[in-house]
Amino acid sequence: MPSLFDPIALGALALSNRIVMAPLTRSRAVEGEVPNPLAIEYYAQRASTGLIISEATQISPQGQGYPNTPGIFTDAQVAGWKPVTDAVHAKGGKIVAQLWHVGRISIPDYQPDGGPAVAPSAIAAVGNAMRPDFSMTPFETPRALTLEEIPGIVADYVHAAEMAKKAGFDGVEVHAANGYLIDQFLKDGSNQRDDRYGGSVENRARFLLEVVTAVVAVLGADRVGVRLSPSNGANSAMDSDPASIFLHVAAALKPFGLAYLHLIEGEPDTPMSIKGGAPELAARMREAFGGPLMLNGGLTKALAQKALDDGRADLVSIGVPVLANPDLVERWDQDAPLNTPDTSTFYGGGAKGYTDYPALSAS
Ligand SMILES: Cc1cc2nc3c(=O)[nH]c(=O)nc-3n(C[C@H](O)[C@H](O)[C@H](O)COP(=O)(O)O)c2cc1C
Repeated sequence: MPSLFDPIALGALALSNRIVMAPLTRSRAVEGEVPNPLAIEYYAQRASTGLIISEATQISPQGQGYPNTPGIFTDAQVAGWKPVTDAVHAKGGKIVAQLWHVGRISIPDYQPDGGPAVAPSAIAAVGNAMRPDFSMTPFETPRALTLEEIPGIVADYVHAAEMAKKAGFDGVEVHAANGYLIDQFLKDGSNQRDDRYGGSVENRARFLLEVVTAVVAVLGADRVGVRLSPSNGANSAMDSDPASIFLHVAAALKPFGLAYLHLIEGEPDTPMSIKGGAPELAARMREAFGGPLMLNGGLTKALAQKALDDGRADLVSIGVPVLANPDLVERWDQDAPLNTPDTSTFYGGGAKGYTDYPALSAS
């Protein structure tokens, strides 16, 4: 059985270990949604993970739904990301950009035309959005995308993939999880279209597959991953029969030969578990997909190794523990104690809670 510390090849990406930094929004971008210069140090500090998946980066102004999240569509943003990828590479690491469109999780404050957010159907998410000043406001009813608009959004993904390449990323992860635009198309709670993007599982998967096809044409399948969350309910994403849509999606992704499939699914005994038999669905999706599978969600070192030992995953991604421990790989290797995460500095602010978590050598 592989150890967490063994190398693995994900398509064109040769990882030195199987502990991946999960994508983590930190809301610290500067003017123009350009990455904060501190991101260079932040990501470089975490380059001993086998792969870094960047914080979600919006593919267009329309795709933004939170304050100060960095984009990947302007020259200034590319210029902000380039020193980040250079710094990670200089330390022997790998980094992919997570491509993001939030769909109905946006609010008019972020929309270039000041109008409603866009979504598959005019159904509001439940709960509160975060305004640019970090205050909360209830989600509003989005506007259903017209058939004519959809190719333009696919084109925004293509542009973002090209910009990610220019910025020196090793590849991209298509963010199709957590109730954002692509997940809104997949799930019947948010997609009630009666055209070729709604209804059957084939129709609801169409937008994701169009995006993947287009991004693969830019970067090659061996530099593209996809993140899915079949059953965590994030951002009020609901489906009446997750197994049907997600087994279809996993099988439909197989022929691409993607670098990896990334699942946010509860593992047995984790705090993230478990809605509707998730471990069983993840196992069936793994079989249907047939390529490298990355699992995420509440994993400790022991649970992560167990997921590998039990053959449920090829590698794992780790969020909050990597946020708080820049050298998590070394700490897990040595069974060293972990820093405590400071939730008050997760989103927004500067170096505090961002680049100042001590490494073992410094503590
Ligand atoms: C502060 C924070 C920001 C996050 N931002 C993102 C994001 O940008 N994209 C994404 O797909 N998931 C995001 N997530 C979810 C994490 O990637 C991960 O799924 C979650 O933290 C569970 O994994 P963990 O238990 O190892 O932390 C975020 C989570 C946290 C705590």
